[in-house]
Amino acid sequence: MQDFSEALRLRGKRIAFVPTMGYLHDGHLRLMEEGKKRGDCLVTSIYVNPTQFGPDEDLDKYPRDFERDERLSRDAGVDVIFYPSSSQMYPEQYHTYVTVEDITTNLCGLTRPTHFRGVATVCAKLFNIIKPHVTVFGRKDFQQLAVIKRMVADLNMDIEVIGIPTVREPDGLAMSSRNAYLKEGEREAALSLSRSLRRAADLYNQGERDAGVILQEVKGFIEGHPGTKIDYVKICDVETMADVESVEGERSVLALAVWVGTPRLIDNYVFGETI
Ligand code: PAJ
Repeated sequence: MQDFSEALRLRGKRIAFVPTMGYLHDGHLRLMEEGKKRGDCLVTSIYVNPTQFGPDEDLDKYPRDFERDERLSRDAGVDVIFYPSSSQMYPEQYHTYVTVEDITTNLCGLTRPTHFRGVATVCAKLFNIIKPHVTVFGRKDFQQLAVIKRMVADLNMDIEVIGIPTVREPDGLAMSSRNAYLKEGEREAALSLSRSLRRAADLYNQGERDAGVILQEVKGFIEGHPGTKIDYVKICDVETMADVESVEGERSVLALAVWVGTPRLIDNYVFGETI
């Protein structure tokens, strides 16, 4: 892969890269569409990265279907799929990790303390292997995008990082590979996430700026749906990820993580943006 990328670079070609864990859906395909526009060669990676899963999480059960992913990638105009094995990515004697501090401690970092270390590490490795000029991430994983931007800036990686708005199902549910875990009858509970964000947007548009008031409304709404269990519901600064008390348009994000039956689903809304 490195030789291939280096040869492209020497020919003056621009490499666009979309990292994924596979089980592709329209959210991933939207990222690929963007990558296609921004580079001469579009590379995607499909790799369920073990270092970003906690010991009790769904690493073994994470949905996989390489043949389908291959077909969808081809249709989306992907030129190269990088599909490594874990023995290649993390051979015995592997000892190096990338830790982005501070912004990884709140939100998903609270219940997944080693998650972003795994994400930053695998992305740093993938960037070194694929040598992209530009990489495309989804804003559905808002904190992840902030972590990647921070790492790229802090470690002087010469890569442009693009964030793409969340792609949703017609009923509003944010697309996610983990939606595959939802059982019949759990859809209504899963919809409480996006619907609660809309309620928050309505409150904001009516002039409400008190984070506590908005959080109470959002939590109450989600808890009113049987089968949900809140991990966190928070309003934070979009860059520092620190909790804020007063909401500021385009600077504050409402982020939530909720278990709906088996899967833990996430969603977010940046105040002042359209949802
Ligand atoms: P994965 O969950 O497969 O997501 C791959 C990319 O697709 C991420 O940038 C994610 O934000 C984006 N994405 C997922 N659902 C989306 C949606 N509904 N709308 C828009 N974009 C969406 O995120 C990961 O994999 C991994 O952590 C990875 C970055 C590959 C590192 O292992």
